[in-house]
Amino acid sequence: MRRILVAGNWKMNGSIESIKSLIDGVKQGMSGVKSTDVVVCPPAIYIPEVASLIEGTAIALGSQNICDQDSGAYTGEVAGSMLKEYGCKYAIVGHSERRSLYGESNELVAKRYAAARRAGLTPVLCVGELLEEREQGITEEVVGKQLDAVLELEGIASFADAVIAYEPVWAIGTGKTATPDQAQEVHAFIRKKLAGLDATIAENIVIQYGGSVKGSNAVELFGMQDIDGGLIGGAALDANEFLAICQAAN
Ligand code: PGA
Repeated sequence: MRRILVAGNWKMNGSIESIKSLIDGVKQGMSGVKSTDVVVCPPAIYIPEVASLIEGTAIALGSQNICDQDSGAYTGEVAGSMLKEYGCKYAIVGHSERRSLYGESNELVAKRYAAARRAGLTPVLCVGELLEEREQGITEEVVGKQLDAVLELEGIASFADAVIAYEPVWAIGTGKTATPDQAQEVHAFIRKKLAGLDATIAENIVIQYGGSVKGSNAVELFGMQDIDGGLIGGAALDANEFLAICQAAN
């Protein structure tokens, strides 16, 4: 039985003050969250602060990215061992903003995925197509290639401890959610592709949906057969909205 996983990706938002009240609000509502694993992914600089704020709670910590290298002359990057030191459990890799704004290729994303595993972190591998790719009817080809880069480098066995987030780029931050059927179709494709390599791993892997998830659409999305929770951007910055999403699986 797969558990629902809801992760808040705060992106480059917040301040010391605002993250305190956000975590406070989430903590207050956690008793109402049943059978959902909850993760927050703050900007890297706030990871130590958030680590201490969530101590002793059921909220887990994740990073928004991770260096593909373990240490050395990589200005501006954060190593997996550093994230691990502050109690991170997850590392997002290949978010579409990293791919499109910072030019991260499928190959680099695969290397970051590998680095997360070396550090003992669970990678949250983001995949998803652009609007023009969907319109061209090549969604599966695009998502398939994004998965293949990781499969080639790390193999199917690595997916036994990984999470996939399907995020259609046209739905991120646009208020335009994929319909539950549209999302389910791609989730099923991903699971089937992995099942061709290892049926047990495919059955057990958590595949989150991301892209304008809100309290009002989470129940329907998470109710689909192959959708196991969500990667949440904008709505994760509001404690009540985030909690409503976390409670959608109740
Ligand atoms: P959104 O972002 O929920 O604001 O659409 C999702 C994401 O980028 O992970």
